[in-house]
Amino acid sequence: MSASPRLVILDTDPGVDDALALLYLRARPELKLLAITTVFGNADVETTTRNALWLRQRLGLSAPVHRGAASPLSGQRGAAPVHVHGQNGLGDIDLAGPPLPPPDAGAAHERMIALTRANPGAVTLVAIGPLTNLALALRAAPDIAGLVAGVTIMGGAFARGNVTPYAEANIHNDAKAAAEVLAAPWPITLVPLDATRSCVLSTSAARGAGGFVEAVTRGYAAAYAAHEGLDGCPLHDVAALVSLIAPELFTDRRNAVRVTQGGERHGQTRWTQHGTPARVLLEADGAHLVEHFLRSAAPL
Ligand code: BDR
Ligand code: CA
Repeated sequence: MSASPRLVILDTDPGVDDALALLYLRARPELKLLAITTVFGNADVETTTRNALWLRQRLGLSAPVHRGAASPLSGQRGAAPVHVHGQNGLGDIDLAGPPLPPPDAGAAHERMIALTRANPGAVTLVAIGPLTNLALALRAAPDIAGLVAGVTIMGGAFARGNVTPYAEANIHNDAKAAAEVLAAPWPITLVPLDATRSCVLSTSAARGAGGFVEAVTRGYAAAYAAHEGLDGCPLHDVAALVSLIAPELFTDRRNAVRVTQGGERHGQTRWTQHGTPARVLLEADGAHLVEHFLRSAAPL
């Protein structure tokens, strides 16, 4: 008999690669999606929540969608990266369809706490946006650190950032939240740009996949071609989910991580001797990860 699926809460800012992460999750029997929680990041939280509701309908998912933080713990939200994720956050694909319901009741961080307490030792939080909701959950209920099965985060950069030479977007968007989350005594797997940059879905593979994958990645791939000279687009957020199912595709290092706040290096992730060691996935077998994603992502 196969093992029972791992319970996942996906904290997300959809987002083109977030959409692909949901497409992947939907296809994997090893994972059971308990809830989708939203956060600002790739767009404002009204837009990322609308996108999560639209994706739930488009992908035929049944998990509740809970709206989360609209801005970082301190300071103003930065400008949305419309040059990467489009004006609508989903590569400017047509979002027409039946009317969308409102988000489900309960704030994102409150539902994270309630679902974690209701399933002690069984819930994995997978964060693929800024870490504000996770920090709010920890502040309100520090006990959840000892109750989660794990926390998997797409974020950070040890060699080179993407929004600045030093910082990766999810950490840079709320460096204070990231610092609190990375300092907490819970089992963290960090999936930084160092690994995800090698997981590139080429434009020809996206065209081969057709349908939703091709449409949603078109503008995103054009942005990566213009800004990073890539042929295709990195599957940052997909890689975080793949690490739960195919850990053999990654090379890891166990070390505590801290986050720089303020100044030119704001949002940089650095090694430290102090605090809880995280499992940091520093390299990925990108070619096999992309193959694995394409095998999983049923045509849509
Ligand atoms: C991360 O930032 C967002 O733009 C992506 O969705 C991903 O989560 C990559 O730096
Ligand atoms: Ca994201």
